[in-house]
Amino acid sequence: MKILNLGAGGFIGSHLTHRLLNEGHTVTAVDLETEKVIDCLEHPNLVFFQQDIRKPGWDLDALVRESDLVMDLIAYANPGLYLRIPLEVFQLNFVENLKIAEACVRHGKRLIQFSTCEVYGRSAATLKNAHVADPEDPIHATFSEDTSEYILGPVSKHRWIYSCAKQLLERVLHAYGIEQGFNYTIIRPFNFIGPKIDFLLHEKEGIPRVFSFFMDALLNGTQMKLVNGGVQRRCYSYIDDAIECTYRIVENPGGVCNQQIFNIGSPANEVSIRQMAELMREIYAEKFRDPAVRLPEIVSVTGEEFYGQGYDDSDRRIPDISKAQKLLGWEPRWGIRDILETTMRYYVGEYRKNTASSVVAGNG
Ligand code: UGA
Repeated sequence: MKILNLGAGGFIGSHLTHRLLNEGHTVTAVDLETEKVIDCLEHPNLVFFQQDIRKPGWDLDALVRESDLVMDLIAYANPGLYLRIPLEVFQLNFVENLKIAEACVRHGKRLIQFSTCEVYGRSAATLKNAHVADPEDPIHATFSEDTSEYILGPVSKHRWIYSCAKQLLERVLHAYGIEQGFNYTIIRPFNFIGPKIDFLLHEKEGIPRVFSFFMDALLNGTQMKLVNGGVQRRCYSYIDDAIECTYRIVENPGGVCNQQIFNIGSPANEVSIRQMAELMREIYAEKFRDPAVRLPEIVSVTGEEFYGQGYDDSDRRIPDISKAQKLLGWEPRWGIRDILETTMRYYVGEYRKNTASSVVAGNG
């Protein structure tokens, strides 16, 4: 197939680009950044446009028209940005993405739209007047694509602008499906993790996700900060598992993914953020420790201290993956310890390589 991969240079997009090329597809890739796909830029089946989709200089319509399938991964997806630049988050994640969807509608092309597990918001157990017999029962935080209700915070907690923008985009795709027979598939990732997830703090301006904060603290001996005590929980999914499921959606056997939404995640890998910090510190001490750097202490900070005003959080989110299991025969394979160790190994390797080369450059 000829696949238009928008956001091909990001974390998920770069892993996907490699997989699509390895499977023999022709890929037209668009992204601001090339760093994560640098090793395949010369591939004969890849054309890469380094482009900000908000700026002139590219022809969305022509690229969509020439493709068999469009995949859209373009989004700001780091909570720090929802707090810092909520309007841009809305512009990019809704307004710009809508243009892509509408180009697909115009040209009758199938679209695979990456959305987010954040559309589900918080678990029912957090509702003030919730009458739940056992608030710890995972049933209250297990989200299903076609039946779960969404619980978001007030407008003053602008973290939710991201969730809302993504939700509205999903609803528009659904409406195009109903009214015009538009063929889309929506993917809701649940905390994918793996090599290239984010940058380390010293490398770039910006706010990465929690793994990078913790990794950076481990490498530099600074504090691992638990926002609001780290009681919130996430289910982490290894990127290879996630790409395997995504690729089955690309293949779309018998059209089973047409006009469907899929959760992709690993329900068995639930950890609290505190447990994740402790596990990463334990793995680091065991496998990667530089004796010259002390192990970090784990401290608690408030959401406002860490992110600023308007922060709110998902307390717990577990994917119901029965749809992907049933329709695609997919099963996640990686457990949380192996996921963290493998991802940490990548970052430790990169960090030591960069440190060594800057020492050599400094000496020269
Ligand atoms: C983010 C995005 O909003 C989602 O769209 C995306 O699907 C998801 O990442 C993902 O990776 O799939 P979130 O899980 O809240 O959601 O992102 P993180 O920034 O990784 O935060 C996870 C938790 O760790 C949050 O509760 C946060 O408050 C906490 N945290 C973060 C810390 O305790 N310490 C830190 O140093 C950083």
